Amino acid sequence: MILHRAIAIDGPAASGKSTLARILSQRLDLIMVNSGAMYRAVTWKVLKTGVDPGDRAAVVEALRNMEVECGVDGLSSTVRIDGIDPGDELRSEEVNANVSAVAAVPEVRECLVSLQRDFLKLGDVVMEGRDIGSVVFPETPYKIYMDADPDVREARREEIGEVDSVAARDHADSRRATAPLKIADGAAILDTSGHTIETGVAAALAILKSQGFPIPADGEGNPL
Ligand code: DC
Repeated sequence: MILHRAIAIDGPAASGKSTLARILSQRLDLIMVNSGAMYRAVTWKVLKTGVDPGDRAAVVEALRNMEVECGVDGLSSTVRIDGIDPGDELRSEEVNANVSAVAAVPEVRECLVSLQRDFLKLGDVVMEGRDIGSVVFPETPYKIYMDADPDVREARREEIGEVDSVAARDHADSRRATAPLKIADGAAILDTSGHTIETGVAAALAILKSQGFPIPADGEGNPL
């Protein structure tokens, strides 16, 4: 089996993970995997089938009855449930409010972590989430933990018009028993509060270089 590289990016909601992962994917030609979209897709289906997201046994039963398929479109990961791409519904207020409960269910995590690891069969990946450096790819040397002040993160969500209680999700994601959000062993911390996108990307590239990731000669100078 060919071994590919994985860059793990973890951190709380709205810390800048998706923006960084997208830019790194383009600059370094990596498959970008948004693992949160996978938890959101399962939550979307749980809600669609009328299951109470707080009822673990019912969530597990719903999981057993759905087909979760992951793939790649261009350089971006895709997720379908029973053949359907939930699209914008992944970011609905209802999904935002319930995804932490569904993501806390060990069986859901076991299923999705296995699908996340499968992406490495397809090529080099940059994957963002909460437990990528700690659980999904603990062996990778390329790990960044992103953070930003809570008010900066709330403001970022408001800017894009999304109703999302970032603080409540972070609280739940950090305190769950299985694979809580934490700084993985070996991860470098990148606080984006005072960064622009440009300077944040430059800082991330410098971190990855120091961790031994091969950055092409023009990788740091390309326009965004
Ligand atoms: O990255 P995001 O905010 O779209 O993620 C949505 C939720 O999914 C997040 O509140 C917790 C969960 N999640 C997780 O538990 N583990 C991951 N690797 C990614 C997301």
